[in-house]
Amino acid sequence: MKKEILFTLALAAAFPLSAQQKPVYLDENKPIEERVEDALGRMTVEEKIAVIHAQSKFSSPGVARLGIPELWTDDGPHGVRPEVLWDEWEQAGWTNDSCVAFPALTCLAATWNPEMSLLYGQSVGEEARYREKDVLLGPGVNIYRTPLNGRNFEYMGEDPYLSGRMVVPYIQGVQQNGVAVCVKHFALNNHEVNRHNTNVIVDDRALYEIYLPAFKAAVQEGKAWTIMSAYNLYENHHCGQNKRLLDDILKGEWGFDGAVVSDWGGVHNTEQAIAYGVDLEFGSWTDGLSGGLGNAYDNYFLAQPYLKLIKEGKVGTKELDDKVRRVLRLMFRTSMNTRKPFGTMRSPEHYAVARRIGEEGIVLLKNADNLLPISLGGTKKIVVVGENAVKMMTVGGGSSSLKVQREVSPLQGIRDRVGDKAEVVYVRGYVGDASGEYNGVVTGQNLKDDRTPEELIAEAVQEAEDADYVIFIGGLNKSAGQDCEDSDRASLGLPYGQDRVIEALAAANRNLIVVNISGNAVAMPWVEQVPAIVQDWYLGSEAGHSLASVLVGDVNPSGKLPFTFPVRLEDVPAHQLGEYTGERTQDTVNIKYNEGIFVGYRWADKQKKVKPLFPFGHGLSYTTFEYGQPTADAKAMTADGTLTVRVTVKNTGTREGQEVVQLYISDKKSYLPRPVKELKGFQKIKLAPGEEKEVTFTIRKDALSFFDADKHEWVAEPGKFEAIIAASAADIKGKVPFELQ
Ligand code: BGC
Repeated sequence: MKKEILFTLALAAAFPLSAQQKPVYLDENKPIEERVEDALGRMTVEEKIAVIHAQSKFSSPGVARLGIPELWTDDGPHGVRPEVLWDEWEQAGWTNDSCVAFPALTCLAATWNPEMSLLYGQSVGEEARYREKDVLLGPGVNIYRTPLNGRNFEYMGEDPYLSGRMVVPYIQGVQQNGVAVCVKHFALNNHEVNRHNTNVIVDDRALYEIYLPAFKAAVQEGKAWTIMSAYNLYENHHCGQNKRLLDDILKGEWGFDGAVVSDWGGVHNTEQAIAYGVDLEFGSWTDGLSGGLGNAYDNYFLAQPYLKLIKEGKVGTKELDDKVRRVLRLMFRTSMNTRKPFGTMRSPEHYAVARRIGEEGIVLLKNADNLLPISLGGTKKIVVVGENAVKMMTVGGGSSSLKVQREVSPLQGIRDRVGDKAEVVYVRGYVGDASGEYNGVVTGQNLKDDRTPEELIAEAVQEAEDADYVIFIGGLNKSAGQDCEDSDRASLGLPYGQDRVIEALAAANRNLIVVNISGNAVAMPWVEQVPAIVQDWYLGSEAGHSLASVLVGDVNPSGKLPFTFPVRLEDVPAHQLGEYTGERTQDTVNIKYNEGIFVGYRWADKQKKVKPLFPFGHGLSYTTFEYGQPTADAKAMTADGTLTVRVTVKNTGTREGQEVVQLYISDKKSYLPRPVKELKGFQKIKLAPGEEKEVTFTIRKDALSFFDADKHEWVAEPGKFEAIIAASAADIKGKVPFELQ
């Protein structure tokens, strides 16, 4: 742009604000779009450039001259990350920034309860608001493609429908606080090793049917105000500067009006970033990856290099104005919204929400002879074994690491609940990772133990022999190579020799309960020898209380798996058919998703002979449910009509319980291959003993459709379908045939 024009713009922007008349951009009674245009018209090119990139690790500048405040972001997604230094990842050492940690998103997905998601969003949004954050960096909805992905714990499982239903209320809950969500990582960020240089090759059908629907729901139904682009490449371009993903699909097809925030260090080129959709650049030069200087914000791709191109007349300002409009819109929705509530933090209500979501998300995988719940009457001795019974899990795992006001460990939770009714003995069993630090936040726990595995096992077995119950609490943790950002797991197996400990305990005592804490499926070679198995997750501040309530039966478990547990890694399609990154490299790695749409249970169903260890949607209860025969209100539906499917479910046990009634649709014949069945509805219902309820599902055309990549459209092909009512992907209760005319 010419100097004279810049000068005119600066003049226009500098006119004094009259005391009587509020300028349009500050007038909250004016529509947002008018305010955006007004503010835009007052800004100089330099000011515009300034607001589209970071000024510190987590903030971008406002326009001080116009009274437009800075924009503050923060991780996300399980609580509000502690303050870090201006230009360092190290925590700033504030004493007012500890938070309540909510359960990991895998647990939220495992509740299969959108009400829990709304509560979660409202609560974490209130914490973010209280800490004066404008953008909370989460939630994540990348699809669970491999159990090795170190970040699966931050996502919502393998099914696009489930994650779509669960992400929408979270977004609404957070944004009610005048805090934006930042739904991440768009898109195809399905493993961590080589996350900056993996180029994903996936067909359009899998892209639209599996990897995009949760993002689309987040944008169109959740009305997410920001989206974070992913680190990886797609079609040979980084997702932070990707025409297809950001321009064509997100802003084009879906009509996204918010701002695209780059992942930290996810922008690599000025011209592409200008042209292809990222609106706010964060983390470039400063993440240790692109080797920059401290405080190098002026060198960001969308900073001086962009301004220089404009000044040299090499690019115009059309794209700049579009980016600035989006950033201003975000500001009016968040930082400049004076009608938003003030938020609350560390409140008893937030602890209660964290506890409740944990209780609803825990999955009872196996319960032979009704070993659980633990009966405290007559019980003298309970032995708790395993590092995860005591290890703090809110510190570690990468950017989602938190500084909590308190965290109740599983052992503490069990002790609090058992009280003096029985002796609770703790033995270590194995030593995993004794360290506990992330960016200067330390757990303060001393978990060092120099004994040999043999000594630890011998001690555990000796204590277990005369116990009424033995509870082994192990699994993964948040250390590198486990459930942790920027690394993947080396194998499906449990680390630290835990299988040996479990086998020794199973031989010593028949009343063994194994609690697996993880955000991923693990191999369980001892599954037949262990009567009771519980899938626990990273449950945050109230972890121990949630677990103890389920173990003793104060709460009847009602969580269902949001992903398939395979027996072996080779049973996972990404490993059997598709490709997956193993070794770390600096070169671009092409990873082909050869399995296409057959991810998770879609693959397990297709295999027929290869049974999963535990199927998608599986989870037991302390009561029993009986399903009636499902019925439909018609034999056929039209493309613009609906079909109602009804089924009665009765609690046939002696306790109140919740059941997740699942609806899958099966397309009997189509011109493109289709999965055996796909989840298209679910409802969680609460039933008193003996109570019966009718559950109703309304089926619309979109539940029957597949994506025809050649036509680039969703197709509902007339013909025969089945509505399948199930208690898991492998536990079918009844089917109703119908036709689409
Ligand atoms: C992560 C994001 C996170 C950001 C800021 C990145 O490395 O991938 O999920 O929000 O850092 O901490």
